[in-house]
Amino acid sequence: MAYYSEDLIEEVISQNDIVEVISEYVQLKKSGRNHMGLCPFHREKTPSFCVSMDKQIYKCFGCSEGGNVISFVMKLENLDFWDSVELLAQRAHIELSRFEVRSSHNSVQAQKTEDLKEVLFKINREVGLYYHNNLMDILNSTGYHEVKEYIKKRKFDMGTIKKFGIGYANGKIPLYNYLLEKGFSKSDMLASGIIMENAKGKIYDRFFSRLMFPIFDIRDRTIAFGGRVLDNSLPKYVNSPENEIYFKGKNLYAMNLAKKEKLDNIIIVEGYMDAIALQKSGFGNAVASLGTALTENQARLIKKYTDNVIIGYDQDGAGQEATMRGLDILAAKKLNVKVLILDKPDAKDPDEYINKYGPERLKNCIQNSISLVEFKVKKLENMLDLNNIDSKIKFLTGVADIMAKIENDIERDLYIDKIARKYDIGSGPIIKEVEKRLQKMSKEDIVIDMQSINRKMQLVTNIRKRQEQYIVALILCKDKKIQDEIFEKIKAEDINDDNVRKIYLLLIDLKSKFDINKIDILSKVKEEDMIKELTEIMYIDLSMSDRNKLFQDVIKNKNKEKLFLRRDEILKRISSNITKDEKEILELELNQIIVELSKLK
Ligand code: GTP
Ligand code: MN
Repeated sequence: MAYYSEDLIEEVISQNDIVEVISEYVQLKKSGRNHMGLCPFHREKTPSFCVSMDKQIYKCFGCSEGGNVISFVMKLENLDFWDSVELLAQRAHIELSRFEVRSSHNSVQAQKTEDLKEVLFKINREVGLYYHNNLMDILNSTGYHEVKEYIKKRKFDMGTIKKFGIGYANGKIPLYNYLLEKGFSKSDMLASGIIMENAKGKIYDRFFSRLMFPIFDIRDRTIAFGGRVLDNSLPKYVNSPENEIYFKGKNLYAMNLAKKEKLDNIIIVEGYMDAIALQKSGFGNAVASLGTALTENQARLIKKYTDNVIIGYDQDGAGQEATMRGLDILAAKKLNVKVLILDKPDAKDPDEYINKYGPERLKNCIQNSISLVEFKVKKLENMLDLNNIDSKIKFLTGVADIMAKIENDIERDLYIDKIARKYDIGSGPIIKEVEKRLQKMSKEDIVIDMQSINRKMQLVTNIRKRQEQYIVALILCKDKKIQDEIFEKIKAEDINDDNVRKIYLLLIDLKSKFDINKIDILSKVKEEDMIKELTEIMYIDLSMSDRNKLFQDVIKNKNKEKLFLRRDEILKRISSNITKDEKEILELELNQIIVELSKLK
């Protein structure tokens, strides 16, 4: 049996969406922010098995079974922990060998991969500098050079060239010799993909006569290059191939820069040129997905920094199709998505727009970005000619379909109102159509009795335990100030419930080793009772409560509890056979306790 590094656990969790995995075993129906179904772990007729997409956990409020995607597979497939991890890794096409450790052969292999990655970062860095210096030399020289003209045409200033490390590959001095002198081996150079070898063994540069854009990861390391031709020849761009350090769909161009900004939102654009043009015009929150369709990994990367995204893809057909797909991927990750509409048809992308109409006007467009719903309606409108009756009916039907999918009633009404006015169709007919769809949908829904679920929750936890669960739930809210205060004021021994105390102790331990706001805490828990307890706590929704007040209350109640305990102890002691002196001391303490308790009322 192979041994894997702990990193594999997080990789497996992030690559296997729990709703998708569980749906392979259990029929789930969406209900609000959760998915509900019949629990596969006990017999039941009304669903109390609840899967949370946001939290990536499941919980049965009937039998209290719960956990993450790994615990689910363990239980249902009856596998041990690492076998379940392996199964899920295979399901997500994760290359297991990347995570193998320990057995002597494997650790040699793992070390080799680490060493290669190190060298590839170094090669990319050297090559980036080489291209960049090359461009600077040309720009500082006198006389004509086509790259000088191109730089002028694309309106790159010196600051931008430096900030993005833009360079030029003229290919006149073979990079190979340059890198050889720097001490790199041929095989490492080939692994970087920057140097290539043909069937006859001839060595040559991948990039030739191209403007070079280094691609950085979020830790500012150069992991690949994109090179653009200076004319209209094809292919327009050539990219580094994927290798040990470069995975296309995992990265976003300029994210290393954007993450340094204070981010209200992120603007995703298609190309290098767009991200650069936006960044140089003051939109430091612009990143590019580089032509590939937006991936789940990229959505996850964004979600680390913000919940709000504006898609600013090309205005042509292909760009709009990509927008549509991107919207779905981002929305599935619970990101709030808006779409940037360029209000001038003769600018196909943000870069062209800025160059033609200036950043101020683009800022306007950004502020007027439309929502997912509005974008869908607009698309529908573009497909139809609203001057003829047939099309108008189709439009109305399409709008009703879109509206019926909006979960929030108020939001839906507002949109209906807005659209009715914009297209001058009267809200009556739209509402009628929407109602029809809503009625049909509610019939299809499994009846979920939230009240009965709540009642079941009440039964499993008494009030005192609930107070202790709040302590952990508050820590999970990631508010650093509250976390620090809790850890300072509440000692593990203050917690009565065994499982909650164990989790609290685990949190204390994790806090000493990691930033607990960045790790997947559930995956650090291996004991079944603790997994159940933790998932139950994770379902406590504090998003609507005043956390500071709750925190104060919890502390207050804990203090009260301690005082009551001590009071009962004293009363018991006083009524037993003790000396007069001791009695006096105890009575003094009792008085103080009574005063303090009255203050806490
Ligand atoms: P300009 O045309 O110079 O303004 O570039 P752009 O950044 O606007 O590119 P475009 O909108 O045509 O394409 C978006 C992105 O798709 C580019 O930035 C590249 O990452 C990628 N792309 C475009 N063409 C090619 C190609 O021929 N090969 C590869 N590998 N990628 C491409
Ligand atoms: Mn462009």
